[in-house]
Amino acid sequence: MKRLITLVVNKKACEIAVEPNRTLAQVLREDLGLLGTKVGCGIGDCGACTVVLDGRPVNSCLVLAVQVNGSEITTIEGVADGQDLHPVQQAFIEHGAIQCGFCTSGMILSAKTLLEKNSDPAEPEIRAALSGNLCRCTGYQKIVEAVHLAAEMMKK
Ligand code: FES
Ligand code: FES
Repeated sequence: MKRLITLVVNKKACEIAVEPNRTLAQVLREDLGLLGTKVGCGIGDCGACTVVLDGRPVNSCLVLAVQVNGSEITTIEGVADGQDLHPVQQAFIEHGAIQCGFCTSGMILSAKTLLEKNSDPAEPEIRAALSGNLCRCTGYQKIVEAVHLAAEMMKK
């Protein structure tokens, strides 16, 4: 039987009726049409489905939507400010940190959360913050450099 839940997604409140076994990733993608959240493994290994839940990056494929009733969620669609990209998005583009793009939403949300807590992270801190986000294309170096660049951009 469906349950009615309330979420604030990308600063907009919404009420949705969901089956108790639906994951947050399914609800975001299939019910709310937010296809920027990717699903790779579906079992918590790859981080492609990362969203920010009440200020923390989580694997949305492992979270049931009914568990997060009343929560605030940011997906990649909520990161830019209108037409202005977030510095992390801009830095990923400028630094060639995107190839196929499948990991990118999750990487950007993990990196943005890190930079909101630590405005000048050292490389090991960046690598640790992104350790739950797997990328099969870039070799990670460009991503780490893009996060450094984003940190510089955010200071200005
Ligand atoms: S799809 Fe969620 S961790 Fe891989
Ligand atoms: S850019 Fe392809 S998986 Fe990261």
